Amino acid sequence: MNTKFTKKPVLIWNLPIRLFHWLLVLSFLGAWITTDNRFLNIHAFLGYFIGGLVLFRLFWGIFGGPNARFRDFIYSLADVKKFLKGMLAMRPVHYIGHNPAGSWAIYGMLIFLAVIVISGIMSLGGDEGQGILANWTGVEFGSLVADIHNGLASLMAWLVAVHILGVVVESYLHKENLSKSMITGVKAAEPSVTAAKPARFTALLLIAATIAAFSYLLQHYDDRTFQNPYIPFSKPAIADNPTWRSECGDCHMAYSPLLLPARSWNKLLNTQDNHFGEDLSLEPDTIKEIRQYLTAHSAEKNLNREAAYKINRSIPADQIPLQITKTPYWMDKHDGIQDSVWKQDNVRSKGNCSSCHFDADKGTFQDAAMHIPSDDVAKKKKTT
Ligand code: HEC
Ligand code: HEC
Repeated sequence: MNTKFTKKPVLIWNLPIRLFHWLLVLSFLGAWITTDNRFLNIHAFLGYFIGGLVLFRLFWGIFGGPNARFRDFIYSLADVKKFLKGMLAMRPVHYIGHNPAGSWAIYGMLIFLAVIVISGIMSLGGDEGQGILANWTGVEFGSLVADIHNGLASLMAWLVAVHILGVVVESYLHKENLSKSMITGVKAAEPSVTAAKPARFTALLLIAATIAAFSYLLQHYDDRTFQNPYIPFSKPAIADNPTWRSECGDCHMAYSPLLLPARSWNKLLNTQDNHFGEDLSLEPDTIKEIRQYLTAHSAEKNLNREAAYKINRSIPADQIPLQITKTPYWMDKHDGIQDSVWKQDNVRSKGNCSSCHFDADKGTFQDAAMHIPSDDVAKKKKTT
């Protein structure tokens, strides 16, 4: 059967579908390369954006017209088997819209994406106390969900690989450039094939929403200053105490009580006459007030905060560390920082937390509030 001569270009994928497809490709790629904690703001933004795209796709799966709506590509597993058998025999049946295997991959990817986005938002809320589910779950649950989030994201990458492989193989077997048709929207088809509806207005709305979302990100990303380190998300600071702040913030920054367990603070205060070689010479009343404050807000009292929870969990029960920088969690987290960074003029000591953490003063240690100060900036400041 040679239908070559009767085929003509027909719009198969309308603009909203193509926009959805390529915006998803770019934002998933973006989320994939921003998994480092320092880029959490961008990563979370892309996650919300992907969530929006998935919601749009669900909507478009109902109202999107021919080829876009779900009812045009519902196939049974038997259909998939038959299609794959044909593919193995190098003679797959030609489908103008999504083929059975592709359809299952699409449903799989949509479900995966939805679960990845939801688990991402849950772990952001639990681990970091940020986002629309801020403080809704504890750190412990947040960390668990974070593992699910990471595992599913890796599985999703495999699904994407299978999808790309399917596109390449089918393009080859049917001598039809499928990825090009996802750009132009057009395929050579027989005249009897129903064309997709162009849906330019919906496409325009999608473009407008995308521009609005990304300009919001750009605007807020610029807000990362010392005054405003991690807008738009944050968790409230714990109570302050002026005596502690003045007595313990004299030689180094006043370390937030949630960075060590109560037993460590007690031991530090009990040995205040030999504090790393210094005699703090504090009055008993002052010691009492500081002790009360530090132990009331110590790590184990703040298990709903990531830093407190993880530092506390990392310390063996029979140990009483006197330095935050000697706790296993701290050492693990700062392991990758080069020696030269610690020696920079604008860092100098491991205990100088605020040189790298905008929010060290509040004790929140949000990922988004973290940066490594550059050496150049320090040198420039010195010469001017
Ligand atoms: C007279 C100066 C001075 C005062 C006042 C002082 N410290 Fe220190 N503190 C030091 C020095 C010196 C070190 C060790 C060097 C370093 O880590 O920078 C240190 C280290 C620490 C560390 C360990 C930091 C790390 O590396 O993890 C903690 C915790 C600490 N101090 C708590 C306190 C508390 C609590 C108070 C108030 C009761 C206090 N300090 C007041 C001088 C001081
Ligand atoms: C030279 C810069 C630098 C200094 C100084 C520094 N940190 Fe960090 N800190 C980092 C970096 C970078 C990371 C992220 C490491 C990662 O994500 O793998 C980090 C991670 C952390 C985390 C984990 C955050 C999270 O959500 O996973 C905590 C808590 C933390 N630092 C506390 C401290 C405390 C407390 C001090 C001072 C005693 C301190 N840091 C000093 C650079 C620094």
